[in-house]
Formats: sequence, structure tokens, C-alpha cells
Amino acid sequence: MSHIPVMLDEVLSQLAPAAGETYLDGTFGGGGYARAILERADCTLWAIDRDPAAIARGAALVSAFTGRLHLIEGSFGNMLDLLKREGIARLDGIVLDLGLSSYQIDEGARGFSFRQDGDLDMRMSLAGPTAADLVAELPEHELADTLFQFGEEKLSRRIARAIVAARAEAPITTTLQLASIIRGVVPPSRDGIHPATRSFQALRIRVNDELGEISRALGAAATLLNPGGRLVVVSFHSLEDRIVKRFVIGASGRAPAPSRHDPRGLAARPAARFKLLTPRALRPRESEIANNPRARSARLRAMQRLTQDFEARP
Ligand SMILES: C[S@@+](CC[C@H](N)C(=O)[O-])C[C@H]1O[C@@H](n2cnc3c(N)ncnc32)[C@H](O)[C@@H]1O
Repeated sequence: MSHIPVMLDEVLSQLAPAAGETYLDGTFGGGGYARAILERADCTLWAIDRDPAAIARGAALVSAFTGRLHLIEGSFGNMLDLLKREGIARLDGIVLDLGLSSYQIDEGARGFSFRQDGDLDMRMSLAGPTAADLVAELPEHELADTLFQFGEEKLSRRIARAIVAARAEAPITTTLQLASIIRGVVPPSRDGIHPATRSFQALRIRVNDELGEISRALGAAATLLNPGGRLVVVSFHSLEDRIVKRFVIGASGRAPAPSRHDPRGLAARPAARFKLLTPRALRPRESEIANNPRARSARLRAMQRLTQDFEARP
């Protein structure tokens, strides 16, 4: 199964690619956004993905757009260094489409899906500790904290206890093994969401340090974007979107005014570096959701780098 790009029309209209400009797609995936950007304008596109399989699959697109598409294997949190190595210090636009591609979810062997059997891996980059390593090694309280913080799982303590009891009997090495342990202690929900959904999300976020990656990328974007350059982020759950929203509020100078009793005074408000292009997050149209259920939870936020840093007015 291929990956259907989510909110593609909205991404293109917010990024507004133009001829002669240079863009970054920080989440190349199946190349859906990349192809559309390159077709929309005669521009240059750098694209990053930490999954070696995504980079390998992209070779055909590189040949189709000779000299205009450049793929880099690495993490978007590291975009400053990855681009610097290529001699790129400025960009006219950046797009991030967070989370997993359909290729990753649908390939049971990658370990992201609780519906298909596979090694409990979950590493997008295929490097570093796996989800099985975390499940085998984390102390019970840390396991519970991970499920709570990154999965918003209310039954985190109960699940962590069940995992620790199960791993004392035999190592937990597969997705279905873990899903069955969780199903044993989490009652089925009325909305039909699989009991392992939140725990799998939590482990995946921790294995790939997904929230740290987003924070690092947003900071780097402020450095890389030319005045007028646009940053477009599509997120898929509230933890991701919260980081983006906080960044937008801070970077557009909309942080709440400091109290007049604050000894640092009104000057404590940070300078605005971005103009907000989407006062509220954009959501996919109903017709898109009907055609691609994975779009259901998407939220798009876009902002534009200001010509200069403006001190926010009190
Ligand atoms: C939702 S898919 C992107 C799909 C793409 N927009 C398309 O239209 O085909 C997300 C991709 O981002 C990659 N990814 C996620 N986090 C990353 C990170 N921190 N650094 C680099 N790539 C990352 C994943 O490996 C995956 O291939």
C-alpha cells in the first residue's frame, strides 16, 4: 500500500512554492509532498527522512527531477547540521508532516502496529534501542510514566505492572505479545479504540524521541528561514500539536503580556520572529477524511518568518 499525502492542497497553498526558491521537506516519507512541490514550481527541494527505506524508495523521484531534489538520511531535529554539510544555510520554506508513513505502519516487521505480528522494534531510523529494549529494561515506574506522558494512558500504572509481571516469566519481543498483555488489563473502550493504541503511541514517541525532535526542528527553522519564508507543520495528535502551538504563540509575540508587577517589566516579552498564517489550526475536509481515514486527526499550522525581529508592543 502506498502513502496518501495528508492535507496536500492546504500544505501547497500555505507553503506557496515559487520558482528559483529553495525548500526543505523534513519528512520525505513516500515523497507525496515532495513530488507535488516540485511539480508546482521550478524550485529546489532538500528532503530529509530518518528511515533508510524511505530514502531508498526516493531514488526514482530524484531521477525524475534531475538536479532539483536532494535526499538526506537523518533526523529533522538535526536539520541545521545536515544542511550545513551540504552548504545550505538559508531556506525559503520548510514543511514537516509528523509521525509515521503508511509504509511504516503497514509493514508488520517494523513493529509499529498492534494489529500485525512483528518484532517489537518501532525505530524509524533502525538505529538505537528498540521498543523491546525499553519494555525489557525500564523500571516499572518509568514505564508507567512513559505510557502516561507520551500516550496519555490513564491506566499506565496497571499496564506497567502487567508488563513487569509478564517479562519476569518470558521476554516480550513481539507486537502481538505486548498487545495481548495490554488487552488483558485494559477493558475494551466503547468507541472501539484498541486497548493498546495509547501504549504503542507512547513507546513509539519515546523510542524515536519524537517530541524532542519537533522542538529542535522549530528552533532550527527560525534560524534557517529567509525573511518571508514559510513553515508548515502537519501534526497528528495533541502532544505534537501542543508543542507547535506553543512555539507559534511564543514566536509570533502572542505570549501573554507579563504582569506589570513583574520586576523584568514588559520588556520581558520575547521579540516576534514569525507572523501567524493560520490563526486556528486547519483541519482536513470531510471528503479527504472519507477517502483517507488516516487524515482524520490531522491539524495544520503555518507561519511566516518576519523580515526582522519585532519587539512585541505592550
Ligand atoms: C507522515 S510521513 C511523511 C509523508 C510525506 N509527507 C508524503 O507525502 O509522502 C512521515 C515521515 O517522516 C519521517 N520522520 C518522522 N520523524 C522524523 C524525524 N525526526 N526526522 C526525519 N524523518 C522523520 C518518517 O520516517 C516518515 O517517513
